[in-house]
Amino acid sequence: MATAELAGKHLVLGMTGGIACYKIAELTRLLTKAGATVQVVMTEAATQFITPVTMQALSGRPVYTNQWDARMPNNMAHIDLSREADAIVIAPASTDFLAKLAHGMADDLLATLCVARDCPLLVVPAMNRQMWQNPATQRNVAQLRADGVEVLGPDSGPQACGEIGDGRMLEAAATYEAIASFFAPKILSGRRVLLTAGPTFEPLDPVRGITNRSSGKMGFALARAAQQAGADVHLVAGPVALETPWGVFREDVQTAGQMHDAVMRSVADADIFIGVAAVVDWRVDHTSEHKIKKAADRALPVFSFVENPDILAAVAKLPHPPFAVGFAAESGDLEVHGEEKRVRKNVPLLIGNLGPLTFGMDDNEVILFEAAGATRLPRADKQTLARALIAEIAKRLPDTSLIR
Ligand code: CTP
Repeated sequence: MATAELAGKHLVLGMTGGIACYKIAELTRLLTKAGATVQVVMTEAATQFITPVTMQALSGRPVYTNQWDARMPNNMAHIDLSREADAIVIAPASTDFLAKLAHGMADDLLATLCVARDCPLLVVPAMNRQMWQNPATQRNVAQLRADGVEVLGPDSGPQACGEIGDGRMLEAAATYEAIASFFAPKILSGRRVLLTAGPTFEPLDPVRGITNRSSGKMGFALARAAQQAGADVHLVAGPVALETPWGVFREDVQTAGQMHDAVMRSVADADIFIGVAAVVDWRVDHTSEHKIKKAADRALPVFSFVENPDILAAVAKLPHPPFAVGFAAESGDLEVHGEEKRVRKNVPLLIGNLGPLTFGMDDNEVILFEAAGATRLPRADKQTLARALIAEIAKRLPDTSLIR
């Protein structure tokens, strides 16, 4: 999550009755940490699962449960609480509450707030699989979608009732991601983005290999930012220990050869290619089938190497290439090597990491190299920087009709 990526956003978080209420404690923490103000409103049923005191402590604001709450000077809680809101999020949204919403009912504070709102409404359903599959629920959800309500989830998996299936609420982190995505400007709407990220691993034998210190954080942050910007994102990832960003299609590979093949299989569909991976430049020409043992005479093993395919250059060489963006990590003289590398790889834009090498770190500072010259972006955490880079890429895209 980027520092304060929801700063200035005011959310009404409406909780209805369900065991998934426990997830909302964590969701509230994530939303407030991202800078949002969170006004919690609970139905009576929700207070059976988690107390208003807990939600008040986590949100830092008084919690409202009742339409006749005397704390509102004008007794207009149903209007006042959502007046400043950028969105109302109902999480968990019970079967009953979805039915109420679909029919425009207003028989408690939260339902009235929803009917009286002047802002987007997001619902995060949480229920048993049979309740979710019930034709009435499906009808209500279809009606809500038709009314412009965003339906986030539900997830599939084990449920509190012991059954397995669709209906459980998205985890708090996924709900947070879906909300953050909802607010991001859709500057890449309708575009397809293919990215590589992380290191590659080139085996020497079944237990050893060569790799590098790339963590994949920058590539994953870019994939997340592109998804939030409305793109359809395909991420080809080398071996990394990172979670797949929400809504991103991920394909895992090990070697540069596999990464090259995965990219070549999908590149025809891409409008934008971003090569963030730190591809290992060489592999051994013969990988040993068995673990290489120490020789009795202690002779050291000798390897001969062959060069790996240059994925970015191969993409740029295609007859109808997508808008191709490279990355460069240099240990010195970035200003010289950056532009030289951009020209050598024949890409319109190359993003140079300003030293020291930032592998695994959360912050980064970059220079954009392009034919028109070099531009420096301010140092920022990788998520914030990723959003700035996606905006820079979006600005430079040719009109879709001219791409292919
Ligand atoms: N790249 C690639 N395939 C390779 C090597 C690099 O697609 N076999 C891409 C990287 O993903 C990055 C860009 O090319 O977008 C530059 O990578 P970098 O490692 O900095 O450049 P190299 O071409 O490997 O040059 P050198 O290591 O000599 O600096």
